[in-house]
Amino acid sequence: MIIQEYFSLKKHHTFHFNISSKYFAAPESEDEIIDLLQKDICKENKILILGGGSNLLFKEDFNGLIIKPNITNINITESNQNTVWVEVGAGMEWDKFVEWCVQKNYYGVENLSLIPGNVGACPVQNIGAYGVEVKDVIAQVNGIFVDTQERFSYKNAMCHFSYRNSIFKKELKNKIIITSVVFELKKQAQLKLDYGDVMAKVKELGELNLANVRQAIIHIRESKLPDHEKLGNAGSFFKNPIVANKVVTRIKKEYPEAPVYVIDDAYSKIPAGWMIDQCQWKGKSIGNAAVHDKQALVLVNKTGLASGTEILNLADEIEKSVHEKFGIHIEKEVNVI
Ligand code: EPU
Repeated sequence: MIIQEYFSLKKHHTFHFNISSKYFAAPESEDEIIDLLQKDICKENKILILGGGSNLLFKEDFNGLIIKPNITNINITESNQNTVWVEVGAGMEWDKFVEWCVQKNYYGVENLSLIPGNVGACPVQNIGAYGVEVKDVIAQVNGIFVDTQERFSYKNAMCHFSYRNSIFKKELKNKIIITSVVFELKKQAQLKLDYGDVMAKVKELGELNLANVRQAIIHIRESKLPDHEKLGNAGSFFKNPIVANKVVTRIKKEYPEAPVYVIDDAYSKIPAGWMIDQCQWKGKSIGNAAVHDKQALVLVNKTGLASGTEILNLADEIEKSVHEKFGIHIEKEVNVI
């Protein structure tokens, strides 16, 4: 395995900043990862584990070693009449996996079509879209502890999944390398079509089937979310804040049209994109950083020349505006490095 020096990260994160990493390695098996972790270079440098780089913001060049697991195999480990268990290597592109499932007629991940990133990163922030979170289909997460090089296998309940969160983002942050994820998928139709205009879009496409759900989701995403190859971005920049229902009542008094997702009797989520839009940020820019003109939750590298600091300055201004107007603090979803 080659360890590259002063390696350009431009193609390895979706904001596409012109930055580099002091060292970079892409091990292709668990054994190669263990070998690498035992080398002095890992003890002497800070380490960052990279997936597809779709949820990261680098403030500057990375002065350490980036490890990008490049394990891309896919195996059916168990199957019965109704359910199939599939183990997928961490380095496989997420949407390639979704496409594979739809071709095989396996249900469960179709609503997560076109999310950028790799399979190994999906449990970390519990990716979610259109009424589905990846925690709903994860059976087990496998990996290696950085310090001891021991292997681990965490069943779903051990991963402490919650909205855009997991044990891998908290207690185990920077302590593990995920090498594969086991998904539990259904062989019979179990479609979730109740989010926004998903059902309407499927009907427009014709028959209610798995392939059309994937196509509908792809259409909806492409109409709102920029393609990072053309316009650098990291998807939702902020999380949707979870607030007490009395806060919702206060906001609804002034803005009866405010969209709200009720969680339970005590809490709801208010879309940060809606609040940012209400603050008139949509389409606005500061220098090379901008708020996407079709979805205010997404910050973009408008000219291709933005730096992480410029995007962060814009984010700070947005956070201030939302706080002033709604009295709500919005938290970044992206991981700032
Ligand atoms: N809205 C506006 N203006 C905007 C953006 C949104 O008024 O500029 C309103 C919409 O009209 C809608 C509501 O806010 O009523 C919610 O918008 P949307 O359905 O686009 O979803 P979101 O809450 O903004 C979340 C996820 C997305 C995911 C979509 C669809 C988070 C942080 N984001 O966005 O995930 O694709 O739902 O399920 O939870 C990502 O994480 O990178 C991501 C794109």
